[in-house]
Amino acid sequence: MIHVRDLHHSYTHDARYAVGGVTFDVAEGEIFGFLGPNGAGKSTTQKILTGVIPLQRGEATIAGMDVRRRPARMRNLIGVSFEQPNVYMRLTGYENLAFFASLFDVPTEDPMSLLRTVGLEDAAQQRAGTYSKGMQQRLVLARALINRPRILFLDEPVAGLDPASSRHIVNLIREIRQGGVTVFLTTHDMHVADTLCDRVAFINEGRIAAMDSPRALKLAYGQQLAEVEYRTDGSVVREVLSLVDEENARRLNALIMNRQVETIHSQEASLEDIFIRVTGRELA
Ligand SMILES: Nc1ncnc2c1ncn2[C@@H]1O[C@H](COP(=O)(O)OP(=O)(O)O)[C@@H](O)[C@H]1O
Ligand SMILES: [Mg+2]
Repeated sequence: MIHVRDLHHSYTHDARYAVGGVTFDVAEGEIFGFLGPNGAGKSTTQKILTGVIPLQRGEATIAGMDVRRRPARMRNLIGVSFEQPNVYMRLTGYENLAFFASLFDVPTEDPMSLLRTVGLEDAAQQRAGTYSKGMQQRLVLARALINRPRILFLDEPVAGLDPASSRHIVNLIREIRQGGVTVFLTTHDMHVADTLCDRVAFINEGRIAAMDSPRALKLAYGQQLAEVEYRTDGSVVREVLSLVDEENARRLNALIMNRQVETIHSQEASLEDIFIRVTGRELA
């Protein structure tokens, strides 16, 4: 559904690339996530794919259409959300959706039923400017859905949200995919990448450092860890040790032999741990 080859972008039109040779494919109905820290090139990639900035070098097609040509048909096929809420703060939720619906020449969703879907029916007649951050993000998602898109591009759909609002959005995205929609999203939140995405690309300094399902990434890069709690001088000390690293394994043995060990739990590496191992950088 999305086909990208060797995509490059330089804002300075020189050898400093914000996106420096990115290649990936997204299959129909897949939720594909770009996971990376600030400045990694996530938004730039999305902007090229959605025609906000021109494609300088490489290839990109959306449902077989060349992004470089910016076909009008593509606009009707995709739904897009940006990092900054792309809705009018002085209009109500309802007015926003009715306005954006009028911009398309394909059948659109009924604004009210879309507001119901994202749980904003009670706030339909309030100005978007009065909405909480979580409500605004839901309105932004509703806006992206107004033209019944087959492909959704969501830039940081849960950034800055509390855990409950974030979960709400994640669940909505899952429901949308149930309808066969293909989703490309960017995030620096490893939980979102881990729980929502079928496949994740680690992006760092404009390049993809690893790409696979969260489970396969953990199997390939995650080392088995043991979390040990032992008692010493009356207080409980916690240590996390690798079961693969020899020195760590010796330390674990020594603790078991010489200390009063209270608990040992095996621990799976998180996507963030793996991101750090692969790229040498933290996500936040
Ligand atoms: N409009 C712009 N002009 C110049 N540089 C930009 C612009 N937008 C982004 N950049 C730079 O490009 C790099 C990638 O940015 P971006 O794609 O926004 O990353 P991300 O979305 O992963 O945080 C960063 O170094 C950023 O400073
Ligand atoms: Mg960004």
